[in-house]
Parts: sequence; C-alpha cells; structure tokens
Amino acid sequence: MNSYVDTVFNEDALAGLARIPDASIDLILTDPPYGLGKDYGNDSDKQASVDYLAWTERWIDAALPKLKASGSLYIFLTWRYSPEIFVMLKQRMTMLNEIIWDRRVPSMGGSVRSFTSVHDTIGFFAKAKGHYFDLDAVRIPYDAATKKARSRAIFVGAKWLELGYNPKDLWSVSRLHKENPERADHPTQKPLEIIERMVRASCPPGGVILDPFMGSGTTAIAAKRCGRHFVGFELNPDYCQIIETRLASPEAELLVQSNAPTEPVRAKIPEVKNRKKGRKSLKKLETSEAEPQLEIQMELSQQVLDL
Ligand SMILES: C[S@@+](CC[C@H](N)C(=O)[O-])C[C@H]1O[C@@H](n2cnc3c(N)ncnc32)[C@H](O)[C@@H]1O
Repeated sequence: MNSYVDTVFNEDALAGLARIPDASIDLILTDPPYGLGKDYGNDSDKQASVDYLAWTERWIDAALPKLKASGSLYIFLTWRYSPEIFVMLKQRMTMLNEIIWDRRVPSMGGSVRSFTSVHDTIGFFAKAKGHYFDLDAVRIPYDAATKKARSRAIFVGAKWLELGYNPKDLWSVSRLHKENPERADHPTQKPLEIIERMVRASCPPGGVILDPFMGSGTTAIAAKRCGRHFVGFELNPDYCQIIETRLASPEAELLVQSNAPTEPVRAKIPEVKNRKKGRKSLKKLETSEAEPQLEIQMELSQQVLDL
C-alpha cells in the first residue's frame, strides 16, 4: 500500500494533491469551504466571490486527474455557488445526480425577505462511462407490510422487492445537533449516515477515497468503517487532532455492511450528567448545551405538526 494511504495531512490541499499519483483514486468525496464566511479557524471560507470560484477551479483541476477511469465524485455545495461549480464540473465530467440533503431544520423564524434555506446541494459526477456503482450495497429494504401489499404475480420474486429500492435523490437526515454523540467540535461536520451511503455505493471494497477538505474527518471514518482506504488534507491542526481522536474511537472499527443503523462514532465523552430532573437541571446547564435540547424538542413538535 502506498505511503500516503490512510493518512490525513495537515496541509493545504493544493500543495498536497501534487503528491498523489494520477489515476490512483476510486472516489473523490468532498465538502469544500462554501464561500459563505464560515469560521474554520482560518480564512479559507472568507474569499471574495470571484477569488472563491477561481480557487475552486484550481483545486478541481488538481484533484480530477487523481481519479481512475471508473471513478466518481460527490461534492457538497450550497445553492449560492452550486450553479457555477456544477457548470465547471459538467465541462470535465458527466453529471449523474443533484442530491438534495434536507437537514431537517425545524421551522423557527429565519429570513423575512426570502424563503429559509434548509438544504445542501450535493453533486454526483462520473469521470467516464462505466463508473463503479453498487446499488445493492445501498438499497433500502421494504418493510414486511409493504412487501405483503405488493403481492400481485408480476411483483413476486422481483429483485427490487426482495432487496429493497434505490434511494431517491432527496435525503432527509437530521444534521448533527450539539448533543449527538457523533458530533465533534467542527461547525459543518456531516453525518456518517450520508457519507457511508456514498462510500458503499461508489467505492469498491478496499478502494481509496480522496477528500481534500477533511474537516473533522467524516470521510476518513466512513472509509474505515466500510472497509475502504482514505487520504486527505486539512488546514486546521485542531481539526487534525479531532480526526485522530475519531479514528481511534472503538466505533470507528465497526464494519458497516448494510444500510441498517449502527452505533454512532463518539467524538467526545458527554459532559452533562444529570438529565433526570428535566427543566430544573436544564437551567443549571450552560446555554450552549441547553439550546440543542430545545432545538430537538422544537423539531419533534414540528414533526408532529407536519403529520
Ligand atoms: C466544510 S468543511 C469539511 C467538513 C467535513 N466534511 C466534516 O464532516 O467534518 C471544510 C474544511 O476544509 C478545510 N480547508 C479549507 N481550505 C483548505 C485547504 N486549502 N486545504 C485543506 N483544507 C482546507 C477547512 O479548515 C474546513 O475544516
């Protein structure tokens, strides 16, 4: 195995990518800065629009030659720059899907001059015809009642009914609340549930996944849990420390073989001990810890209203 594999380098992606051999990567799965001014402990998300797009084109051109002919790419974006970046990628690759990640954000005020944005836009692209895609690894099984209801002769023995259906391009998965044991100290950490689906569908077992912008290392953890390899870069040394901790967690050793829910990877030991006494004990908590509980309650009430 090459020396760079299963490593996250504390380094600028543009410099590091030059060392990865061309045509050595099965999947690029990445979540670059959005150009929205987020604080990653550096200025990477604070570029002017024109500089941000020029920089995006530079890293895309440095990363794409690393893909094998059978390779593909997932990229997390927001509505603000997805039109421009999708055009860049469509000039270089074949677009397969625009996936909408509904972050299940509760309704609570928000913008007063436009609609509230609650989704990420994910682009899925293939380098060439014949790209790797394992649908069976990500099918969603039907429950017993649905299977029974589809009992007409034409359905009996149908593969899709036995093994489950193809996930649609709208993915409704809650963002990671501060309380979630999976949550690390990173402002835009992605849920493993989403990343693991991409890994199982689009990287063969034992293959190598490249993420030039690792953040808290979700791509690396997902690769490890799914029996794949990873390589990537992250500018912020504190986030590199988080990645090391997450990779060393016992849950990172779990081999995820299906879509069934698994134990979350714990990013930290929960500090809040006394939750039994409800409102009184809540008052004793720091505001930053109390807020997510309220958020969850609001989200539950919203779900009830939605029903
Ligand atoms: C959107 S976040 C990635 C979050 C990640 N998907 C997760 O689940 O934690 C983007 C990350 O890219 C890092 N970054 C920004 N510019 C970079 C560069 N030139 N090279 C390497 N990392 C960079 C930022 O520090 C930030 O942590």
